[in-house]
Amino acid sequence: MAEISPLPTVGRNDGKENIMKRVLITTGGGDCPGLNAVIRAIVKRASQEKDWEVLGSIQAFNGVLWEPQEIVRLTPEVVRGIHFRGGTIIETTNKGGPFAWPVKKNDGTWEIVDRSDEMIRRLEYMGVDCVINIGGDGSQRISQKLYEKGLNIIGVPKTIDNDLSMTDCTFGFQTAVQIATEAVDKLVTTAASHNRVFVLEVMGRDAGWIALNAAIAGGAEVCLIPEFPYDINIVKARLEERFVNDRGHAIVVISEGAKPKDGQQIFTKSNEPGYENVKLGGIGLKFIEQMKAAGFEHDMRETTLGHLQRGGVPIAYDRVLASQFGVKAFEMVLNKEYGHMVAYRHPNVISVPIKDAVAKMNFVEPDCDLIRTAKGLNICLGI
Ligand code: F6P
Repeated sequence: MAEISPLPTVGRNDGKENIMKRVLITTGGGDCPGLNAVIRAIVKRASQEKDWEVLGSIQAFNGVLWEPQEIVRLTPEVVRGIHFRGGTIIETTNKGGPFAWPVKKNDGTWEIVDRSDEMIRRLEYMGVDCVINIGGDGSQRISQKLYEKGLNIIGVPKTIDNDLSMTDCTFGFQTAVQIATEAVDKLVTTAASHNRVFVLEVMGRDAGWIALNAAIAGGAEVCLIPEFPYDINIVKARLEERFVNDRGHAIVVISEGAKPKDGQQIFTKSNEPGYENVKLGGIGLKFIEQMKAAGFEHDMRETTLGHLQRGGVPIAYDRVLASQFGVKAFEMVLNKEYGHMVAYRHPNVISVPIKDAVAKMNFVEPDCDLIRTAKGLNICLGI
């Protein structure tokens, strides 16, 4: 891997405000393979213009709001060779943000403070002409609110969950699907050796895209997703078909947000200050308990893939998509398409209003083509 040179920091009023136009990049929410490829593409495209420089705020907007600030200058030298590196060189966070900044009080409890006006003033003072906010639905909701307050901002959709609407897909998603599919491939061989059912729990929050794609690609027998609460007896019947005289094996791909009919998602509440999401996880084990309670007698084991789905190098598809998104995002800066988000509509990369992208989530619909495909492959969806 290419060496990443240390990030040069930039201070306020360093004398460049009147000479150069400045675009500031933020990466927010959970990380995702391809973030660095977007950053690199923005910087490379911006370097073709003589009067633009690119800054990065460390950990989403925190770098702007911290005292001292943590803002780095992103030059072509800094981003050289990062297109296949996982994570984000400017770090990320899924806690807090300018509208919900956690402040520790003297008694040790936390209060949430709105620092959005202050942040916009800070950006003006720094001479930032436009922000490119790379993030999922939470981050793009922040983008929209900042835009409504007058900030020049452009969104880039990012999430392994693929749950943002107005774009055919988000970068990072196909890498997560690849990782989940490789896990299915590995589990098939051990399942066959031991005559077992393996249950693979994958990420995706309330959207079943990762599970559905990995189930189809990996040849699973069962796929359970949040959009379709499952009937345990239907699943049991399908799995029993896979065993003849006690011999057989099967794979169940279950989304972390899946739940049984008349049941609840399995989650824990986080006590990390500023973390608003619930932590989904544990449905794989719960499902095995339900199967045993329903009388299923064959051996079952569970594997939770967790954050392995978000780490490591992006596959080529995501590098290409991320690079397209980065170049387009900077062109939208040049065209002053503020309040808009980059989106992929095959075969083009286009610009859509952020407000439309966050108005509704992209969930698996019962009549979508992938569901028809899954049914055609005799994959049991528990319904
Ligand atoms: O939204 C991306 C995602 O990886 C989800 O699939 C998952 O539920 C969540 O983030 C995990 O978040 P965290 O990294 O905060 O545990």
